[in-house]
Amino acid sequence: MAKSKFERLPGFRDFAPEELAGVLHIFDSWRTVSTRYGFSEYGGPPLELLELYVEKSGEEIVQQLYNFQDKGQRKIALRPEMTPSLARILAGRHRAMAKPIRWFSLPQLFRYERQQRGRLREHFQWNVDIVGEQGVGADVEVLAVALDGLRELGLRENHIVARVSDRKLMTEILLVLGVKPGNVSTVFTIIDKMERTKVNRSMDRLCAEAELDTEVAEKVLEICYEDQIEVLRQKFEGSISITERLDVLQIYIESLEAKGLGAYVQFDLKIVRGLAYYTGIVFEIFDRAGDLRAICGGGRYDRLLELVGGDPLPAVGFGMGDVVLGELLRIRKLFKPESAKVDLFLVIVGEEQRTLALSIAHNQRENGLTVLYGLHPETVGKQLEVASKVGACQVLMLAPDELERGLVVLKDMKTGEQREMRLEEFIT
Ligand code: HAM
Repeated sequence: MAKSKFERLPGFRDFAPEELAGVLHIFDSWRTVSTRYGFSEYGGPPLELLELYVEKSGEEIVQQLYNFQDKGQRKIALRPEMTPSLARILAGRHRAMAKPIRWFSLPQLFRYERQQRGRLREHFQWNVDIVGEQGVGADVEVLAVALDGLRELGLRENHIVARVSDRKLMTEILLVLGVKPGNVSTVFTIIDKMERTKVNRSMDRLCAEAELDTEVAEKVLEICYEDQIEVLRQKFEGSISITERLDVLQIYIESLEAKGLGAYVQFDLKIVRGLAYYTGIVFEIFDRAGDLRAICGGGRYDRLLELVGGDPLPAVGFGMGDVVLGELLRIRKLFKPESAKVDLFLVIVGEEQRTLALSIAHNQRENGLTVLYGLHPETVGKQLEVASKVGACQVLMLAPDELERGLVVLKDMKTGEQREMRLEEFIT
């Protein structure tokens, strides 16, 4: 096959209708669930000032930015995530708004990533955020929305798991283990990558980059695998701040259990999130088989609004991408986007009936039906073939003999049943 002259950029997708139908099917579920939980949809510009991301989102995402200087000499970036835009938008207008603010959005985002399974250079991301609520109830609500968005698509607890942790708890634990306050964020960066890194390499990084003694580094790696809250309670019973955070985490998990979502939730200290702005409970949702990258990630970020120049306002939310999710739905055979349906196909037997066909089509479209007909003269056989190809539910035959008697023939394409009907019924 000849190569087309212009190839698509690596990491980007075209969306032919059947491919777009898959994305729209996911969007439908996301919108349905957002609305069910009382969230309102918002949007923002695809371009933002580069400054909005630098330092606030963290080094990893800044390295992945598509950025350039515009004709007004501004340093610009294509949005790699929505959260800084949300913080910027609300910093300017939240005062007049009732709290908490419940907003959701479905932006297309751009990251210059190394292309790999489940990671592209553009993706659509469902963003759901609650702003202006400090209580753990907001954290619970946000994770429930994420899980229900996936459940709406047919995924169940045997397919997905939400791994939850708390950055505040982990910070306290690291300090007790002997990590210096100034090195905590470096340790987080290393923990965030530890599952995709060899143990020796993580150890080396902890010692070199986070300046830990081997003994402390070993303890840090070991504690990451502790998955029992009770064991942590005993281990750190002398620390009030750790006990307090464990209490909060316990309420969080018990509230999700009360919502009937307990089977989806797993406590896991290895989850710290790659973005720099998280300040409290964090979570990531994965496929149970563990074959894919994260489907969703989020958590509490109580200082971001202040960082972008607004009033301090607590916030919690998540982002869920369409790429990994689409892959999981395909693997689980849950990917069934509906193809566009054609209600009625008009078969024009003789060209002298075309004017009548145009009038019927117009009338029936005004009635809300999807109507098609051939745009140029063709044999009846060919027209029927097209009707069947486009999946028309019914075919209306405009044949001279029947029309002379004021009749048309309606054929049900599923049953093959044909019946004569009065022409007036289709023009009025
Ligand atoms: P994130 O973890 O960077 O979080 O992205 C969230 C999800 O978006 C990921 O779990 C993944 O499904 C999807 N995703 C991210 N990058 C790509 C990519 N290159 N290709 C395909 N899918 C991707 C955030 O963006 C936060 N702003 C989420 C958030 C909202 N936190 C609070 N509110």
